[in-house]
Amino acid sequence: MASLASIDIGIIGGSGFYQMEALTNRREIELDTPFGKPSDAFLVGELGSKTVAFLARHNRKHNIAPTELNFRANIYAFKMLGARYLISASAVGSLQQAYAPTHFVFPDQFIDRTRHRVDTFFGDGIVAHVSLADPICDYLQKVLYEAAVANKVTSHLGGTYVCMEGPQFSTRAESHMYRSFGADIIGMTNLQEAKLAREAEIPYATIAMVTDYDCWHEEEEAVTVDMVLKILKQNADAAAATIASAVENIDLAHANPIHDALQFAILTSAEHVPA
Ligand code: ADE
Repeated sequence: MASLASIDIGIIGGSGFYQMEALTNRREIELDTPFGKPSDAFLVGELGSKTVAFLARHNRKHNIAPTELNFRANIYAFKMLGARYLISASAVGSLQQAYAPTHFVFPDQFIDRTRHRVDTFFGDGIVAHVSLADPICDYLQKVLYEAAVANKVTSHLGGTYVCMEGPQFSTRAESHMYRSFGADIIGMTNLQEAKLAREAEIPYATIAMVTDYDCWHEEEEAVTVDMVLKILKQNADAAAATIASAVENIDLAHANPIHDALQFAILTSAEHVPA
């Protein structure tokens, strides 16, 4: 795939995170992909010594619901831009007492509870099965975690993220069930990104910003949008500072640990791949 612009790092911003003030020399790039249009135009610019592209996952008007996201177009477009690493920032609910609102979690595992999403570039005549045993890039995850700690955010390294369909939040029975699975946080978007980034061989990690205790907690109110936005506003500066430090600290000479994710994943032989 030819790359259009040479960016170093892609950043996907979730709810309440629609642009990046700190970018200099900024320009907007609209892209189209074989899978359709990404969520929004990409904001490309410099962050410290690196070139980054920022995408508002739900569009800057926040008019694309989790189920409606074109995850394939978003990740494909980052590949077109030449992204070497992909950082995602998202609001999540907490399923554990110790992960309180305003804390950041850097998950390393997922449980899929989605039902209505396309989450592969393959099919339609080409069969491939990439490994997803470790869906998060542990190098990028640690860089993000250390940046959050350096910016004085209470942070948790590792954890299991339940990716639910939405758009409704969970029922109490579901919330208790996820806790019984040993899951730590819950959100609506990150797993499809992790899967597609793996197929695109782009190392991916996420900053999960805890905004609520979902609805399992007996002494806390059940999650509402109001609650989520209030905590995100409180944390906006910490999130921006964490991303800026992490981007500065990423060593682009570090070998891409998933550069060969597709090497043994494609089962369809070359002569049978549709033209
Ligand atoms: N995003 C923020 N809080 C959430 C929750 N409790 N469930 C799912 N997604 C969320």
